[in-house]
Amino acid sequence: MTDFLTIAMKAARAAGAIQLEYIGQDLSIESKSVDSDLVTIVDAKCEAIIRQIILKAFPDHAILGEEGGTVGSNAYQWIVDPLDGTVNYAHGFPFYCVSIALEHHGQRLVGVVFDPNRNELFHATKDGGAFLNNKAIRVSQQATLTGRAMLATGFPYDTQTALIALEVFKRFLALGLPIRRPGAAALDLCYVACGRIDGFFEYKLNAWDCAAGILIIEQAGGKVSNFIGETYAYADKKIVASNNLVHQAMLERINTPV
Ligand code: IPD
Ligand code: CA
Ligand code: CA
Repeated sequence: MTDFLTIAMKAARAAGAIQLEYIGQDLSIESKSVDSDLVTIVDAKCEAIIRQIILKAFPDHAILGEEGGTVGSNAYQWIVDPLDGTVNYAHGFPFYCVSIALEHHGQRLVGVVFDPNRNELFHATKDGGAFLNNKAIRVSQQATLTGRAMLATGFPYDTQTALIALEVFKRFLALGLPIRRPGAAALDLCYVACGRIDGFFEYKLNAWDCAAGILIIEQAGGKVSNFIGETYAYADKKIVASNNLVHQAMLERINTPV
């Protein structure tokens, strides 16, 4: 496990360094699914260095990366978002990260999320706890969805689903809750894990957005499910993550029109 974690951390830091290095340079920005779904030269460069570092250490492991898809077939599979928060990055808005997870037969073993702007490295290993810069972290103690709580969410690129998500957003706003839309799901999940926010929900995340964050939250004492409270599967595309204490209340709110 130590070797896996060391390599995940090394790869995350290498990609984070590239993200900082390219600030202010020509990013060769292009659109993917829709105009606002951006990709930059840095996404590709980060994924390349991550793949190189992982494969040098574990040549037969499989890697699923957002930009390069799945390469290889093995019980060990890495799940990589080389730059989570690309829209923020492309606009010079300093909230983005690198997310790297390792699964074995579908079971999460390692999760690492690195925020290069704040030099914050979140990590977790199966049954090993969750950490921020090597200090143990726990989810918040907030027990109710009142104005003292704070949540975060994100909106998918596809406008139709974004408008559905907006309806759910309104259900929380109606409670008088502060709710943020930071723009990097992997980091949002880590903010639940370390208690900066009490809960998070989002439509249409991909495995690379949340694989590492899920393990980090669970190891920090939090809970992750789909919108009906079942164990989250990547195919669900509707994720709720929380400090556990407000989870049921979040599910009820998500599923109750106001
Ligand atoms: C995106 C971010 C964003 C979320 C989107 C993701 P990307 O990832 O995590 O917060 O709202 O759904 O696609 O495209 O920047 O890697
Ligand atoms: Ca992402
Ligand atoms: Ca990405």
